[in-house]
Amino acid sequence: MSEWPEPHRLIVVDDDTVLRPVFEASADDLYALVVKNLAYLGRFLDFANAEYSLADAATYLQQSRQNWGRSREQAYAIIHEGELGGVAGLHHFGAKNRAVEIGYWLSEHLQGRGIMTRCVMKMTEMAFEHLGVNQVNISADVVNERSRAIAERTGFSFDGVTRQWLVNAAGELADMARYSMLKDEWARWRSEH
Ligand SMILES: CC(C)(COP(=O)(O)OP(=O)(O)OC[C@H]1O[C@@H](n2cnc3c(N)ncnc32)[C@H](O)[C@@H]1OP(=O)(O)O)[C@@H](O)C(=O)NCCC(=O)NCCS
Repeated sequence: MSEWPEPHRLIVVDDDTVLRPVFEASADDLYALVVKNLAYLGRFLDFANAEYSLADAATYLQQSRQNWGRSREQAYAIIHEGELGGVAGLHHFGAKNRAVEIGYWLSEHLQGRGIMTRCVMKMTEMAFEHLGVNQVNISADVVNERSRAIAERTGFSFDGVTRQWLVNAAGELADMARYSMLKDEWARWRSEH
């Protein structure tokens, strides 16, 4: 799917926060951040488990470098006050329907400040205005209230629940809440907010 433009390499989110390709981060920093947040992330993200290693972090960064600009996952490091604070990515690029999904995680100590809400707004804006996307999707475990709140706060429509779609950290099937934003809705929502 070579017709997708390269995502922006720098997105200014706010005075203290920028997004940069995640492969510019060091494996040491990524590993340390994930390990520091292991229990908190592990509730909803399966990579965050006791087996997570420095080699996993390095492999992920290497794959992210290879994927960059190739309509596979485009992952950004969230750099807050000069330090790695989380990751937000675009994935599930649809060649025909021109849809993408946004996924994200933030270090626990940065929660509750609206950082991810602003990141999602900037990434959504880039998807529509730069990548030529028609639909941006966000999905979350139905019990992941903080993640769902981001979609709701940024004007995404609740499309419903796909039952028993996810495997949660306990290895159980879990229901997934789905949200979407369409290009024309985004223009309207932005003009009103
Ligand atoms: C999902 C996750 C990123 C949400 O983090 P978050 O801090 O709640 O989200 P935001 O950065 O957008 O911050 C929103 C909070 O900041 C507050 N806030 C402060 N200023 C704000 C502003 N200017 N704009 C928006 N929110 C603001 C909001 O009220 C909200 O706080 P509340 O939940 O106490 O009401 C985080 O919980 C996480 O990484 N979880 C683990 C991994 C995960 O679940 N990822 C998603 C998988 S689908």
